[in-house]
Amino acid sequence: MTHSLYVARLTLTDFRNHAALDLVLDARPVCLFGPNGAGKTNIIEALTMLAPGRGLRSASLVEVARGGGQDRAQPWAVSARVVQDGEETILGAGAERTPEGGIKRLARRNGMPATAAELAEAARMTWLTPAMDRLWSGPAGDRRRFFDRLTLARAAEHGQSAAAYERAMRERQRLLSDRVFDAAWLGGLEREMSAHGAAVAAARVETLHRLQDAIDARPTGAFPKAILALDGSLEARFERGAKSADVEEEFAELLRDMRGRDAGAGRALDGPHRSDLKARHAAKDMDADQCSTGEQKALLLGLCLAQARALADDPGAGASLILIDEAAAHLDSVRRAALFDELLANPGQAWLTGTDEGLFEAFGERAQMFEVRDGCVHIRS
Ligand SMILES: Nc1ncnc2c1ncn2[C@@H]1O[C@H](COP(=O)(O)OP(=O)(O)O)[C@@H](O)[C@H]1O
Ligand SMILES: [Mg+2]
Repeated sequence: MTHSLYVARLTLTDFRNHAALDLVLDARPVCLFGPNGAGKTNIIEALTMLAPGRGLRSASLVEVARGGGQDRAQPWAVSARVVQDGEETILGAGAERTPEGGIKRLARRNGMPATAAELAEAARMTWLTPAMDRLWSGPAGDRRRFFDRLTLARAAEHGQSAAAYERAMRERQRLLSDRVFDAAWLGGLEREMSAHGAAVAAARVETLHRLQDAIDARPTGAFPKAILALDGSLEARFERGAKSADVEEEFAELLRDMRGRDAGAGRALDGPHRSDLKARHAAKDMDADQCSTGEQKALLLGLCLAQARALADDPGAGASLILIDEAAAHLDSVRRAALFDELLANPGQAWLTGTDEGLFEAFGERAQMFEVRDGCVHIRS
C-alpha cells in the first residue's frame, strides 16, 4: 500500500510542554504512547494547528505557548514536512512577536506566508478526541462545528463563507439591539447573510451526500453505518432541490420579516448558524444519541473513516490524515484490529495515541512506535 499523504518530519518549538521536539517519520501509522500528562495529545494538537481554526482544543495563540502564556507574547512554532504524492511541502503554523510587543498568528507554506486554506489543502486531516465521545448527545453547536470542519476539508472556501455570514449577522444584530431600524442598512446586511448563508448550507448538503455515499459503500463490519441528516431550514430547501437564488431570496425575506423578533431575542432565530447534524444508527434504526457510549464512538469512527474515503475519492480533494487521540480507549481487541486495518488502507497517514504500547500490538511492524515522556519522545521501532 503506498501512502499518498504523510508527515515525514514534525518539529515543535515551545508548543505546550514540548520545548523542542523533532520527529522523523515514514509513511506508516504513528503511534504515541506513554503515561497521562506526557504530551501525547499535545503532539496531535500541534498537527491540528496546521488545519484551519484553533486546533483540537480550540485553544488561543497564547494558551498553547510553552508556559501557558505567563509571558503574554511568547512565540511558538509547529512545522511539518508533508509528502503528498511524492512531493514535499513544508508547512508551518505558530505565533510570532509583533514590534508592538503583541503576538500574531503565522502560517507558512514553503517559507512563504500562506492562507489557512492553502495549508488545509496541503494537509487535509480529520481528528477524533475523547471529548467528542459525547458529540451525538451534546450541544448542537459542537456537531455543527464538527460538520463544518468536515466540509472545510473538502471545500476550503467554506471557511470564508461562514466567516462572512457571521460578520454580517453580528452587524445586523448590533443594529437591531441599538434599535437602528434603517431599512437600507439592514437590507444590505441581510442580503449578505442570505448570500453567504446559502453558500454555507449548500456546501454542507454537498458534504453530507458525499459522506453518506462513502458510508453506504463501507463494508459492514466493526464500525456501524450512520444515516446522516442536516436539520436546518436552508439545508432542507437545498435537499428539496431548490435553486440557490431562490434559497437566498427566501432567506433575505425571512430575515426582513424577523427583524422585530430577532431584536427582542437578541439573536437571529433562524439561519445556518443554528443547523444541526443528525445521525441514526442504521442497523439498530436508532438515533445516535440513544445509543450506548461505545456505539456512539463506533459510529463516529465509522464516520471519520468514511470522511477519509470521501476525500480520497474526491478529485478536488485527496488523501487525508486521520488523527485519533486515545484511539484504543473504548474498543475491544477485535474492533481495535479492525480499526488498524482500515487505517492501513487509508491513503493518508494515521496518528494514534494511547497509554500503553500493548494497545498497538496488532499493528506489529506495520506502524512506528514512539514513547512520550515529559515532553520528550523516544523511538521504539
Ligand atoms: N501551554 C503549556 N505549557 C506547558 N505545559 C503545558 C501547556 N499546556 C499544557 N501543558 C502540559 O501538558 C501536559 C498534558 O499534555 P497532554 O498532551 O494532554 O498529555 P497526554 O500525554 O496525557 O495526552 C500537562 O502536564 C500540562 O500541564
Ligand atoms: Mg491525552
